[in-house]
Amino acid sequence: MKKILVIHGPNLNLLGKREPEVYGKITLKKINEALAKEAKKEKVEVKFFQSAHEGEIVDAIGKAGDWADAIVINPAAYTHTSVAIRDALLAIDIPTVEVHLSNIYKREEFRHKSLIAPAAAGQISGFGLNSYILGLDAAVALLKNK
Ligand code: DQA
Repeated sequence: MKKILVIHGPNLNLLGKREPEVYGKITLKKINEALAKEAKKEKVEVKFFQSAHEGEIVDAIGKAGDWADAIVINPAAYTHTSVAIRDALLAIDIPTVEVHLSNIYKREEFRHKSLIAPAAAGQISGFGLNSYILGLDAAVALLKNK
């Protein structure tokens, strides 16, 4: 069975309470539950990791190769700042899908630039919970085509 690691960046643990007008009312727990259900349907194994700390995310990506065949990542604010996360993804050569709940191109200009995008196979942005589900499906498709 193929294995997919889902990584959530900073402040995503606060979903539900955090800026509901932007991110909706869904909690991270509900997102992970929906992903676990989708993973079961697609017959893949899924694991979740959330951290507010850039270095911890870099470490998790560095170790991902021990377990994961693909990564789905919402780097949150680090999307726009983290050379370290981009380099970690480039270093491991595991197919990666970048996801965002909100449409980052409809928001403040500083969110329009993703430093992560060049290290990802593709990006899904703006569909709320569905960004994650579509992201998981995209990762599954990438693994099938491998
Ligand atoms: C986000 C978008 C980022 O700009 C923001 O910093 C987040 C969440 C999203 O899922 O829409 O924390 O990645």
